[in-house]
Amino acid sequence: MNGFTVVLLLAVAGLTNAYLDQGNCPSIKHVDEFDLPSYMGRWFETQRYPDGIEKGRACVTADYVLVNDTRFSIRNSANLHDGSIELLHGNAVTTDTPGRFIVGFQGEPPIVYNVLATDYATYSSVYSCAEGEDYREQFAWVLSRTERLDPDALAAALDAFDSNNIDTSVLQVTPQGGHCVYTSPPPKV
Ligand SMILES: *[C@@H]1O[C@H](CO)[C@@H](O)[C@H](O)[C@H]1NC(C)=O
Repeated sequence: MNGFTVVLLLAVAGLTNAYLDQGNCPSIKHVDEFDLPSYMGRWFETQRYPDGIEKGRACVTADYVLVNDTRFSIRNSANLHDGSIELLHGNAVTTDTPGRFIVGFQGEPPIVYNVLATDYATYSSVYSCAEGEDYREQFAWVLSRTERLDPDALAAALDAFDSNNIDTSVLQVTPQGGHCVYTSPPPKV
């Protein structure tokens, strides 16, 4: 990276909360079909790309509630360093591509949310990438139905990133369990 690029990336970093680096977005193999109702409910974030939105946040959960055939609501919860619980509310709408959604949170530009792979019952591998002129903005999350993923499910989750040429070495573990304070999950429908 030359000096100009570093300055450029820093300038862009002020405008986005994504993980920034150079390169193009990989072309993603989308899932053949997606069962939206089965995807609803609580997910625990077990790993993520470092990003500005979630910096310093532990015990992150995502609660998805179906609104209708094409839409679900999102409530993300996190524990902050000062012991408080932060809630973020968003919405997701379906696209023509199975497992691909447009997700928006208050005050954030919408992102494309791609489910690379999920078995609905244990894990979900989620990825987002957008290209700028000389950089790309990525989000990646390894979600789990329980506070920790068992080794087989984790292997399946990471394999979904590997097989789409997405770098799993950037993923960081999100603290879960132990001293986490969790909100009540949404009611099961
Ligand atoms: C789903 O709900 C949204 C928001 O309430 C609405 O705009 C949209 O038209 C609904 N879609 C269907 C298929 O009912």
